[in-house]
Amino acid sequence: MNDPLFQPLRFRNLTVKNRILRSNISGRFDNYDGSGNKARINWELKFARGGVGAIISSFVPIQRIGRILPNYATIDRDETVPFWRELVSRVHEHGCRYIIQLSHSGRQRDIRSLEFPGAAPSSTDRPESLHGLPARAMTLEEIREVIHCFAQGARRAREAGADGVELHGANGYLITQFLSSGINDRRDQYGGPLENRARFVREVVQAIRREAGRDFHVQMKISATEHNDALFPWEGKGNTVEDSIQVVRWLEEDGIDAVHVSTGSSFPHPRNPAGGFPVNAAARTYDIMADSGRFALRNLLIFRTWPFSALFRWWWGRRGGRRVQGANLADSRRIKEAVRIPVLCTGGFQTASIIRKAIADGDCDAVTLARPLIANPDLVRMFERGQDHPPRPCTYCNRCLVNVLENPLGCYEPARFGSYEEMIDGVMSVFRDVPEAEDEVRRAAS
Ligand SMILES: Cc1cc2nc3c(=O)[nH]c(=O)nc-3n(C[C@H](O)[C@H](O)[C@H](O)COP(=O)(O)O)c2cc1C
Ligand code: SF4
Repeated sequence: MNDPLFQPLRFRNLTVKNRILRSNISGRFDNYDGSGNKARINWELKFARGGVGAIISSFVPIQRIGRILPNYATIDRDETVPFWRELVSRVHEHGCRYIIQLSHSGRQRDIRSLEFPGAAPSSTDRPESLHGLPARAMTLEEIREVIHCFAQGARRAREAGADGVELHGANGYLITQFLSSGINDRRDQYGGPLENRARFVREVVQAIRREAGRDFHVQMKISATEHNDALFPWEGKGNTVEDSIQVVRWLEEDGIDAVHVSTGSSFPHPRNPAGGFPVNAAARTYDIMADSGRFALRNLLIFRTWPFSALFRWWWGRRGGRRVQGANLADSRRIKEAVRIPVLCTGGFQTASIIRKAIADGDCDAVTLARPLIANPDLVRMFERGQDHPPRPCTYCNRCLVNVLENPLGCYEPARFGSYEEMIDGVMSVFRDVPEAEDEVRRAAS
């Protein structure tokens, strides 16, 4: 089959069987202490069975203070390795690769940390803009410690048999907090010109190479254009795609093997995940944040009070891009033209012909999917059968996203289901094992 979708994707140290990867999707499946559990394995297996070439994990904290929510499996200590080893080996049984996303929240958390309730370490003392969670600029010693923790996370990922790691350098988390001209206001060697703002992530990559070796796959997710002023026009614009091209060039010199193109200097952001903002669902789940930051109670009241809720939803929609499917392809193409390493592109993909064209036109080497796979974990199997688009597609409503604060991750779009019970059954399926016999058949087919 010469279909570009199903051509192997060759990185320097890794080959993936096709061009469709599962993008990172966090969900509160694990234990409060950060140890992983079976629900996480069941979750990842849904996509491995569904035929993606590789899974890029959810946000995996490399330090406890870098958590965004409890119940996300961490890789902050050696005792976590056996869990990751089991997860990776179960995913491998389906011919699917597994890449762990090494992450640190910095000041951008989804809930105030119970263990570290004070100001969160960041590049800046300024609170983050969405919830108003307090921040403090890290000392040089703290920066060195976090770089060390990233390298240890990569070493543990390798020991667990993972096929590589991804640095979460996008969407407002710690690495973005250093990279971004809209966030980083330091006056030392880690702030100011782009060269200084990129120093932190470059040192992370160099430390990973020393600790995990040259032959281990390392990629970086980046918000190519930050649109830092999307929600709050009085803030700086943040990095442009030209800035990001330079950063990726430097990282290529430092030895990264691929880049994963995203957008937006916060999470969520009107452009990522692009689509609607379900204020009614947020009015229910955002109460978990109410006492967390300077603006959280204000936000909750906005979500709960008409006409402010309608106004917010309108503003969110207006500040998002017009295109959802392939929203980041223009940036991806610019980066691809500037570097030799493969470029992965995230953002709205769920139609085979659109993905095929993006790859054939040289806009990217492969695509990564999140919400369309939450809605249809077997989407790649549909493409294999020649279907161009799923019969019950993801509507980009973002109900999965806002439910994540309190509820198990899954598709919460009632319009996609025959009944409420059917929808909840789908969400809860992550707590049920697939019978071994059924799984055997799928493994044999992959
Ligand atoms: C519920 C949810 C959780 C997500 N968690 C992460 C994450 O942990 N790390 C990350 O880099 N991106 C995360 N994302 C962003 C996705 O990986 C993806 O880049 C984005 O949603 C755009 O792709 P899509 O349109 O296919 O969903 C998340 C998205 C959703 C909807
Ligand atoms: S809730 Fe379902 S339909 Fe809505 S964005 Fe999430 S996966 Fe797509």
